[in-house]
Amino acid sequence: MVKKSKTRFICQNCGYVSYKWQGRCPECGEWSSFQEEIVKKDDFLLRGFTSKENKPLPISEIKEYKQKRYPTGIEEFDRILGGGGVPGSLILIGGEPGVGKSTLLMEVGNKLSSLNCPVLYISGEESAEQSKLRASRLKINSPYLYILPETNLNQITLQIMNLKPKIVIIDSIQTLYREDYSSAPGSVSQLRECTAYLMRLAKSERITVFLIGHVTKEGAIAGPRVLEHIVDTVLYFESGKDYQYRILRVVKNRFGPCSEIGIFNMEENGLKGIANPSKLFLENTSIEAPGATVVSTIEGTRSFLVEIQALVSPSNLAIPRRITQGVDYNRLCLLLAVLEKRGRLRLYDQDVYVNIAGGVRVREPACDLGIALAITSSYKDKVFPKNTIVLGEIGLSGDIRPVGAVDKRIKEAVKLGFTQCFISQSSLKKIKTSVKMKFIGVKDIREAIKLLEVKE
Ligand code: TYD
Ligand code: MG
Repeated sequence: MVKKSKTRFICQNCGYVSYKWQGRCPECGEWSSFQEEIVKKDDFLLRGFTSKENKPLPISEIKEYKQKRYPTGIEEFDRILGGGGVPGSLILIGGEPGVGKSTLLMEVGNKLSSLNCPVLYISGEESAEQSKLRASRLKINSPYLYILPETNLNQITLQIMNLKPKIVIIDSIQTLYREDYSSAPGSVSQLRECTAYLMRLAKSERITVFLIGHVTKEGAIAGPRVLEHIVDTVLYFESGKDYQYRILRVVKNRFGPCSEIGIFNMEENGLKGIANPSKLFLENTSIEAPGATVVSTIEGTRSFLVEIQALVSPSNLAIPRRITQGVDYNRLCLLLAVLEKRGRLRLYDQDVYVNIAGGVRVREPACDLGIALAITSSYKDKVFPKNTIVLGEIGLSGDIRPVGAVDKRIKEAVKLGFTQCFISQSSLKKIKTSVKMKFIGVKDIREAIKLLEVKE
């Protein structure tokens, strides 16, 4: 009698396992997401980093070793990784098609190969000639950068064992497959198996592995979160909509900082790091028009200035419009309520649009006062004072709260020629830098609004 093979169904969206087919995943609610897969005894859950010699050790007896890193020399990239890739780590880079993942990693590979360590670039999407075309465009011609167009993980392992590279780049994880799993490349089982396998390979051979991952239309890395759990570092490469620049963001990092961003410009021959992002975001600003203010926002260890633009106009709708770009919608509603109630501005019959110039996003509450004053400035049709930055968080009672890292923000503003700063009263004492800047402290939103009236 032929033994019936056991199968199970896996949700391709979240990884939920079911033993019968279901139309809708009970975990994530996705429709038609179950795919049948054959159950194998040696599933990845049954294996791990096991070896017979492993036994528990007191932490005081575990030898400390100095973390070696591979710096790439691309400053924006190294800062994100905390000084370079760590040997034996797995780094996942996700991003939309065309954002420049392959370009970035080819440049990273090239820089690392100049340290005389072999770098293996595995391309599952492009042939060797196509990779060569890209390389010529980027003026890359290193004898230590090896290209391998391959998607079979067994073959890849063989080549890794032969070449013994220090760095392996995989473009992309969705194209890899293991022969012993019947499901298609890119399916949850293949993704999970291939990544877990690469993780073991990276750890045992002390190779730094960079994985490129595609993102779904919602912007998450395709495949369930499980991928992000397995790897050591997760980076997202995003593009500012309709803009040339790209932002590399860390969302998880076992060996380095976790809120850094790196900013690049996509140029004719490759990505160029942008060392001074404030300049980029304040270029072509409209400070002379009512409704524009400049705030400082901190991402990771860096501070940069962005312009906030607001437009307030009478509404002819029963429920006026509130439209934001780059600012959280709920935060805007909260600020409008504070302006209305504590600042006595009549905004309930006005449409309000808030936009961050340059397409960046600000998430910090430190930008509250800047947003509120941009709205006020547009509502009253008064131009905001020149060369002034605004720092302050707004509480529900209309009080202006202090912001963190004041000195860093102020230094950056002074560098760019700002001479005046509206800041919360309680932050004034915390300013340690002695710079040429006029500080005007405000206690609450009423005071802040008055400031705008005086400065005609
Ligand atoms: P690519 O790295 O192929 O993106 P991904 O791997 O994320 O899909 O980059 C593709 C885009 O970048 C493409 O639209 C062309 C553009 N590009 C440049 O502008 N300059 C360059 O030097 C290169 C290599 C690409
Ligand atoms: Mg690509």
